[in-house]
Amino acid sequence: MAKSRSGVFEKEASELLNRFNASLPFDKKLYKEDIEGSLAHAAMLSEQGILTKDEANSIALGLKKVLEEIESGRFVFDIQDEDIHMAVEKRLSEIVGEDIGGRLHTARSRNDQVALDFRLYVQKNSLHLINLTAKLINTLLTIAKEHTDTLLPGMTHLQHAQPINFAFHLLAYMSMFRRDIGRFESSHKRNNFSPLGSAAMAGTPYPIDRDKTAKELGFDAPMSNAMDGVSDRDFALEILFNISVLMTHISRLAEELILWSSTEFKFIILSDEYSTGSSIMPQKKNPDVPELLRGKTGRVYGNLIGLFTVLKGLPLAYNKDMQEDKEGVFDSVETAVISLKILNELLKTMSINKENMSKACAKGHLSATDLADYLVTHANIPFREAHFITGKAVARAEELGVDISEINVKELQKIDGRIGDDVGRFLSLEASMNARNSKGGTATSATLSQIKEIEEWIKSF
Ligand code: ARG
Repeated sequence: MAKSRSGVFEKEASELLNRFNASLPFDKKLYKEDIEGSLAHAAMLSEQGILTKDEANSIALGLKKVLEEIESGRFVFDIQDEDIHMAVEKRLSEIVGEDIGGRLHTARSRNDQVALDFRLYVQKNSLHLINLTAKLINTLLTIAKEHTDTLLPGMTHLQHAQPINFAFHLLAYMSMFRRDIGRFESSHKRNNFSPLGSAAMAGTPYPIDRDKTAKELGFDAPMSNAMDGVSDRDFALEILFNISVLMTHISRLAEELILWSSTEFKFIILSDEYSTGSSIMPQKKNPDVPELLRGKTGRVYGNLIGLFTVLKGLPLAYNKDMQEDKEGVFDSVETAVISLKILNELLKTMSINKENMSKACAKGHLSATDLADYLVTHANIPFREAHFITGKAVARAEELGVDISEINVKELQKIDGRIGDDVGRFLSLEASMNARNSKGGTATSATLSQIKEIEEWIKSF
């Protein structure tokens, strides 16, 4: 008879029930957190005189043996045990004897146990994701430092807009990833409270010390309400949301890598180690990695919506529906971990074609705004009028088949006599990029300040 079935049951569970009801196939991933929680619980029970020292010591030794068996692959998982909590407890009792093993569950329930294990998993992985995201930022920084004057077209509506430098473009992503780290940090802080000791939902009559187990397990304090302790899954929603935003940023960068590696752009070449081939077209090298990064973002959003939907109608406190909370979180965490790792490698190994980036700037009249700005600053023309005159200049450049950055000054002066002979130096692409030296702008000087700021942040981190 499975351990969770008390004397109230006369018959064994059906095979179908076991398969439907069990979470063991996926929650065995939580074995470490489960044993860690049980070790803290047993130590506290003994300090509070609820278990004897000897009993607690045997339990601790037994739990460590179980841990070792699981890690060495010797542990036999049996679906009849339903979940990791019962599986560990059953094996513990086999090792230390039922009389001692059977005492571990005093003053707790699987409800606070699963809430604890899952929360420990989420907290640990939030830190892991922070770490991997910081590594990604470091890689972007390394690339950026070499490209503070590498010109490429900045775009809006995917149309050439204004010349920028490549470092500036990468810094936009660094800003996003920095906020992602901030989100994981703040969720970690907000959720760093222990549900252990909530028991089934109403607390326990035993004289437990929840502060002690909370501290022991790395939490700031115990959660303040036992019902909330067993039914709160905000921490799971938060990591799913945080990963969704992170993946949105990864996906946008991935999309740009796909565009940049296409024949039309040829701004970058992805390394062979991270490119794939076509089974029929021998000339092809495909950007499967960024495509998958973009694609996997979908399942991560699905996991978030999935858990919202599971939780929205649940009465307090624990309901079995909540067992559905884990797989989506595991999947999102694992997806984000591998995505961050592979994106980091992809970036480190790609080559950057500065020449093609700068060649692309010669199309699309990227410095047209500079002509308008010139008219405002040098001829005191209202911007709206300057904008109109510039439009005419662009139309003329089109007629002549040249870019505005290279048009003959005489042609411009024919359009508006207030245009001076010195206009050319304001219209060069480099000048245009460097003119935007406002805080946060693309000028090399402003880009260097942004690099400095992010470097300082990452050092202090
Ligand atoms: N396997 C369960 C879960 O993942 C553990 C908690 C079960 N508690 C209960 N009272 N059935 O949610």
